[in-house]
Amino acid sequence: MTFTLPHDVSTLMAMPAAELPIGVIGAGAMGAGIAQVAAVHGHPVVLADAQAAALERARAGHVAAMTRDVEKGRRTREDADAVLARFTYVDGVTADALSHFAPCTMVIEAIVEQLAAKQTLFRALDAIVSPQAILASNTSSLSIAAIGSACTRAERVVGVHFFNPAPIMPLVEIISAISTAPEFATAALTLAHRWGKTTVRVTDTPGFLVNRVARPYYGESLRMLEEGMADVATIDWALTTIGGFRMGPFTLMDMIGNDVNFAVSCSVYEGTFHDPRYRPSVTQQRLVEAGWLGRKSGRGYYRYDAEAPAPAPVMKATLGQQIVDRVLAMLVNEAVTAHELGIASRPHIETAMTTGVNYPRGLLAWGDLIGAGEILHRLERLQTRYGDPRYRPSPRIAEIIAGQGTLLNG
Ligand code: NAI
Repeated sequence: MTFTLPHDVSTLMAMPAAELPIGVIGAGAMGAGIAQVAAVHGHPVVLADAQAAALERARAGHVAAMTRDVEKGRRTREDADAVLARFTYVDGVTADALSHFAPCTMVIEAIVEQLAAKQTLFRALDAIVSPQAILASNTSSLSIAAIGSACTRAERVVGVHFFNPAPIMPLVEIISAISTAPEFATAALTLAHRWGKTTVRVTDTPGFLVNRVARPYYGESLRMLEEGMADVATIDWALTTIGGFRMGPFTLMDMIGNDVNFAVSCSVYEGTFHDPRYRPSVTQQRLVEAGWLGRKSGRGYYRYDAEAPAPAPVMKATLGQQIVDRVLAMLVNEAVTAHELGIASRPHIETAMTTGVNYPRGLLAWGDLIGAGEILHRLERLQTRYGDPRYRPSPRIAEIIAGQGTLLNG
């Protein structure tokens, strides 16, 4: 069967999902979730994994998710059975196994985060699916251009970056490499919309949008900890209670896993050729080396055993405000820089941070509320104090102030 992808959005939106099979390769945390999203929205789904056990876990997860939906009255048993009947589980990624993906409109790869493995898979898929099909990667840190370079038709390779857990998190970053043809990115974005996702368009840059702009939430908190300005519990208390963030940075890093969070920091730092803004923290590295990975290992910045002491923050308003002011200045600077570098549009930068990491406000609007002048002042004070280019303000901030514009609208 040869599939022709309609490149205009309205035709693609109108086509029955049953005629648009979706492939997912890698049935781990992300792939299983992404496959579920597509099946729930009516697509036939082919899901493959190199490990039979991972595929079994994914299948069991799908059954459990549908049972939960029925129990909670979110869907009927018939509907749940119809969703489950849409899955084809494929054991392995041999040429024979991959032939199941031939009719797919879009194949989303969510395998191990290794460039060589992804390139091998994309090279094989490129020869199997129709020339119109989208080949998407859910990579968090690798370049889409590098993945696409394995394909004869690199123009159909797009980054489609879901957040964990994929069935729940609303945001999907649609990443275009220099080699990506706009119609393929638009078609991927259209499919994500059909699945009820909020999308932002992002260029093929280290950390893409959310993971890049969010770096100071962790990095600056770690710096303040290392300087002895405040302890873990106090920084978490300040950013949640005064800053309004849903979760403090140390609680969040423990939840994400310090190994994962540290790896993202390192990859953005390496990817930007050691821009000091993204310099990883030795403190976090030591936690990883000690195996203090966070919740999953029972200990991270906090302890998670039965005898763990309750966090005891120093609840001093002035100290708390200093902590929030510093982190926010750095976050707003990142958001302005992301626009300055053309990584995403200003509305998309706002949407990405409120839906991808649940920030209480968009950072540009937040910066306007604080005042662009005040943000600049804070950054300049930090830069003078430390002499560290980590704190250099985006030149756009001074330009906006001079033009009496706003960070949100220019
Ligand atoms: P995971 O380790 O839970 O799952 C990966 C799965 O891929 C495993 O089941 C493994 O058996 C399978 N696999 C490995 N190599 C394979 C190959 N060559 N062919 C077929 N299957 C293979 O990993 P996770 O967390 O689901 O991540 C997958 C991808 O999604 C990675 O690129 C990661 O960077 C990205 N990602 C992860 C997020 C997260 O929060 N975990 C968020 C967004 C993106």
